[in-house]
Amino acid sequence: MNKKYYITTPIYYPSAEFHIGHCYTTIIADAIARYKRLSGYDVYFQTGTDEHGLKIENKAKESGVTPKEYVDKIILNAKDLWKSLNISYDYFIRTTDEDHTKRVQEIFKKLYDQGDIYKGEYKGLYCVPCESFWTETQLVDGKCPDCGRDVNLVTEEAYFFKLSKYQQKLEDYFESHPHFIEPESRKNEMLNNFIKPGLEDLCVSRTSFKWGIPVTFDEKHVIYVWIDALTNYITSLGYPEETEKFKKYWPCDLHLVGKEIVRFHTIIWPAILMALGLELPKQVFGHGWLIIDGGKISKSLGNYKDPREYIHSYGVDAVRYYALREVPFGSDGNFSESALITRTNADLCNILGNLVSRTIQMGIKYFEGVVHKSEKTEDIDAYLTESIYNLKTTVDGKVESLKINEALECIFDVLRKCNKYIDDTTPWVLAKDEENKERLETVIYNLLEGIRVCAIMLQAFIPETSEKIFKGLNVLDTSFDSINKMVEVYNLGSEKPANLFERIKED
Ligand code: MSP
Repeated sequence: MNKKYYITTPIYYPSAEFHIGHCYTTIIADAIARYKRLSGYDVYFQTGTDEHGLKIENKAKESGVTPKEYVDKIILNAKDLWKSLNISYDYFIRTTDEDHTKRVQEIFKKLYDQGDIYKGEYKGLYCVPCESFWTETQLVDGKCPDCGRDVNLVTEEAYFFKLSKYQQKLEDYFESHPHFIEPESRKNEMLNNFIKPGLEDLCVSRTSFKWGIPVTFDEKHVIYVWIDALTNYITSLGYPEETEKFKKYWPCDLHLVGKEIVRFHTIIWPAILMALGLELPKQVFGHGWLIIDGGKISKSLGNYKDPREYIHSYGVDAVRYYALREVPFGSDGNFSESALITRTNADLCNILGNLVSRTIQMGIKYFEGVVHKSEKTEDIDAYLTESIYNLKTTVDGKVESLKINEALECIFDVLRKCNKYIDDTTPWVLAKDEENKERLETVIYNLLEGIRVCAIMLQAFIPETSEKIFKGLNVLDTSFDSINKMVEVYNLGSEKPANLFERIKED
């Protein structure tokens, strides 16, 4: 049986339409999911929406609709956006789904029955936009440390989760599982800023608003939105029922999350899992933010477009490639439309697109589209062919360590070498003399092999482009296993290939 791989994105708040920042996490998760499928894993890739809480309740009120009506519209658009971006998720969970609701209630009751949740009184500081409670010491200049906005003092009867009980267990777990949180800097931040100073019990119910999942045994309380949200990763598999799906996919292999929610995923979530007696996810990776003009992408600042506009103008793979290539995974990075254009022109158009069209055209012009494998090689061929057939091993290592931008750099390095090989071997000069025919065929063949292997490696990242290249090369086997099965003869047909990418005018 194939090995399994379970990967998740955070479930996004449908409080406003999604922007390029949401696309960023989702595209990266999609590329990893696709790469693992190609590597033979039985992949379960989950995304979804986190629909409860005061913020959504307020937004719906402002718009004069029910919270469910409010989120339904945004989710319709979100699903359309994921389709436009070729996101290959296996499951889309909504926290308003009936089965999720029922399972969250069961989990809450179980934790209450076993004494991990108890009733008390909450006095605290609450940030509505972040749906987070803070202690006095965690505030920065009296404001929410995450978003910088005002916090409200709240006093109410509430249920608490015994987070403090798990302090030592969490520390021990971090110690014995050095890769549980990546990058390392985020792990140190969690340990030093949150765990070591002491964990307080967590308030896990609210009575001041209604838009949430009711506590079954005390209906005026709704379950804290982060408990509702985090448990999505197991309720979607059927938990608390021990379903086949649950047994197969849990524990999760990778939770991809933005840096601002690492705390929830590496402290609260593991503690809940420990309380439930379940295994912990293998890894939580906290990536950086895409920022615009040095600041957050935000609806109130009006600094973003519907990402579908970029897809419409430049093509889906230009957007995917940009998200995957531009920013070292883990760090913050600036997003701008002009950088997207520059990146598309420089890499996709100049390096990849031109290489593919030039090579196929030469194959058609010089050999009527029929190019044979050749046994006769020259020294100059070696630097290219070695890099072609070693590429997969290198990219495997990069994807394994989630250095996604470097994985793409390695593939483009081979494409660059192909372009250099054209300059070095000058096929148009070889073509002038019939005596060089065999040599010319070797040169074109090597280039076609380079393009074939790079297209196979690019499938996970820019799938639509790879598909077009396979059509142009007339190659049917596009599996990872086929990489080292050199093609005996290319039958390119006689049609000039369409350009993969049109050069975009830079203003
Ligand atoms: N609903 C919670 C997550 C619950 S998971 C159990 C939430 N939602 S969110 O919509 O505010 O943000 C979710 C995620 O969107 C972030 O963690 C991050 O992965 C992604 N991003 C949102 N804005 C982003 C950028 N500007 N840049 C990169 N990623 C961003 O938090």
